[in-house]
This record gives sequence, C-alpha cells and structure tokens, in this order.
Amino acid sequence: MSVERRVIQAFRDHWGQAPSLLARAPGRVNLIGEHTDYNLGFVLPLAIDRAIYIAFRPCTDGRVRLYSLDFTDQMEFSLQDFSKGDPGWAEYVKGCAWAMIQKGFSPGGLDGVMAGDVPVGAGLSSSAAVEMAVISALAASGGVEIDPVTMARLGQTAENQWIGLNCGIMDQMISAGGSEGHGLLIDCRSLESKPIPLPPSARVMILDTGTRRGLRDSEYNERRQRCENAARILGVESLRDVSPDMFEARQNELDDIPRRRARHVISENQRTLQAADALQAGDSVTAGQLMNASHQSLRDDYEVSSPALDAMQTCALDQPSVFGARMTGAGFGGCAVALVEANKVESVIKGTSDCYTKKTGRTPDILVCQASAGANVIPIKE
Ligand code: GLA
Repeated sequence: MSVERRVIQAFRDHWGQAPSLLARAPGRVNLIGEHTDYNLGFVLPLAIDRAIYIAFRPCTDGRVRLYSLDFTDQMEFSLQDFSKGDPGWAEYVKGCAWAMIQKGFSPGGLDGVMAGDVPVGAGLSSSAAVEMAVISALAASGGVEIDPVTMARLGQTAENQWIGLNCGIMDQMISAGGSEGHGLLIDCRSLESKPIPLPPSARVMILDTGTRRGLRDSEYNERRQRCENAARILGVESLRDVSPDMFEARQNELDDIPRRRARHVISENQRTLQAADALQAGDSVTAGQLMNASHQSLRDDYEVSSPALDAMQTCALDQPSVFGARMTGAGFGGCAVALVEANKVESVIKGTSDCYTKKTGRTPDILVCQASAGANVIPIKE
C-alpha cells in the first residue's frame, strides 16, 4: 500500500472519521553544491519521490493532536501555550508552530496522522520534509497561504532556534519549492531559484551506504563556524563573496584548516554554477565530472566524507555507465548520489552493489529517483 493510502487509513483507524486534507512534503537529494548554503552560495538539489505525509482535519479548539505512524507515538499541545520537551519528532512539530507564531502567521489546530518513506538520518532531509509538511498542514488549518520561500525560512528558523541545529536553507527550500523533472539551482543569498531540467538520457541514483551520521551535529556546526571565521578574516560577509581569484591572492592569510575549508566552499560554488549550465545543455559528462570533483573536495578539503561514502563513490565510478558520483548531504554517513546513463540503470545497481558489499561487507540500498514537485496540500475525497 502506498504511504498516502496508509496514512489516510491510519487516520480513520486512529480518529474514527475520515481526514479532509493531505499534506505532502518531499525529501531531497543534492546533486551538487554541498556545505555552500550557509555560506550564502549555490546549491542544486532535487525533490525526490519519497515524502512525509500528514492526513488531517482542521479543528477549532487551538490544539494540535498528531499521531506518528512511524514512531507509533502521539503528541498533543495547545497553540496558545507550549514549551520545549525532550528531543524527538514532536519537537519539530512544535518548532514549526513556534516559528510561524514568531513571524506573525496563525497556525490552526488539527487532528492528524503523519507517516513517510524518507529514510531517517540518511542525508535525504527527512526532517526538512517533516517541517514543510507540518507548516503546510498548520497553515491550511489556520486558513493562511504561505509561499515556498517563506515556508522554507520558517522551517529553518524552527530548526536553528527550536531544535538548535544551525543548518542552512537548502533542504527546506527544495522540499517547499521542488519542480517535477527538474533540479533547482538555488542562490542561497537572494533565495531566487531556477529549475534546471534533468537530461532525459540520465537518471539520478541514490546510493545508501547503510551507515548513519549519528551525533555529528557538532561537526556540522563547527564547519559552519570555521567558514564564518574565514570570511571575517578575508573581510567579507560570507565566503560567497570570495572569487577564485581573490582566494588565490589571499589564501595565505588563512591557516591550513580554514584555508582548505574555504577552498572547498569557493570551488564548490563554481562547480555548482558550471554543473547547472552543463545539465541545462544536456551535457551529463561534464556534470558528472563536476560531481566527482565535488566529492574529492568534500573528502580532502572539507573532510566530511567517510570510508563508507568513499567506497560507494569509487564503486559507482567503476561502472562504465556512471557519469559521476559523490557523497550528498551533510556527510559522515548516509547516501551518495550518482548520475547514470538512463538505459544502464540495472547493470549499475548490480555492479555498484556487488563492489560495495565486497569492499565493506554491507548491503547498500540503491534507488533510482524521479524529481518531484515541492510541498502541497490536497483535499481528500471520501
Ligand atoms: C545538511 C543541512 C543543509 C546543508 C547540507 C550540506 O543537509 O541541513 O542546510 O548545509 O547539510 O550541504
């Protein structure tokens, strides 16, 4: 049974009536542009065909009652009065309501059931998908319309200020604003985005290493801090403002580690723009080479890859029909992404999987994904 049907059925079982609305928000995979978003640079993710769904009914008592099918856990709070609780999925829901109220939007109460098929902790942004689904549902219940960029900002505020993770805005932007069949080139300073068609002769493959990032949030915050320090030393607002030429001329002002971190960000911004041009021109070969260079930079300069991610990337590149491959997301575990010849998908899955198992003893989970549309809310017909 599809997740949509499961969540609708679960609502009926749980609340004893039919839901009226269904919110959906997709996870994402990032093709290129990693650790550039919080440096106000460029990213090129796509929304995948895996999502978080909330079947719900607006209610008028100002309370949010939400059952999570995946965690078999229910949460309830009043929108007039709520506070932080123990870490867990429920905090994402409260954080979103809090961010909406902070920014002057009125979330509405609801009874709901949530479930999804975005793997948790795999680097496919299940938490941003939860945030965008929750904000969509709370907005629909409150009768407010919120545009995708504002939704993304609200999700990021929830994550930064309620959850305490200083993430950038990429995941929320793509979950809110994804476009079917397209990647989205996002300028993380202006928040303007441009849909980039994916070449019809290529497929995007997600290669899950089966390893999880675990408690590496501190590493993430540390990388961000380093970049901000490097920008300060170079006298700019963010590393976005440093051109390759300027970096070349002034890199000696930075110590070894900040220099390498900055070099990654500055070169990654260039690669992302070039990859967008290449994809737009249907040039998967160039896009693939840029993805490979991105992996190398993340591994050696930014140091956020892992032995499992490196093994997966090498195994993918060993296959003749792979244009390029790289780790995707924050790193330290989770997934790699590959751009693959459309008619060679089966042989690439088999070849990469065998190679990865041989190297690591682990069985990978490999899926071909379609670029899907961003978050939405649709009525459920009885
Ligand atoms: C995580 C964060 C994003 C981004 C990526 C790295 O997914 O949530 O904002 O920084 O890592 O590119």
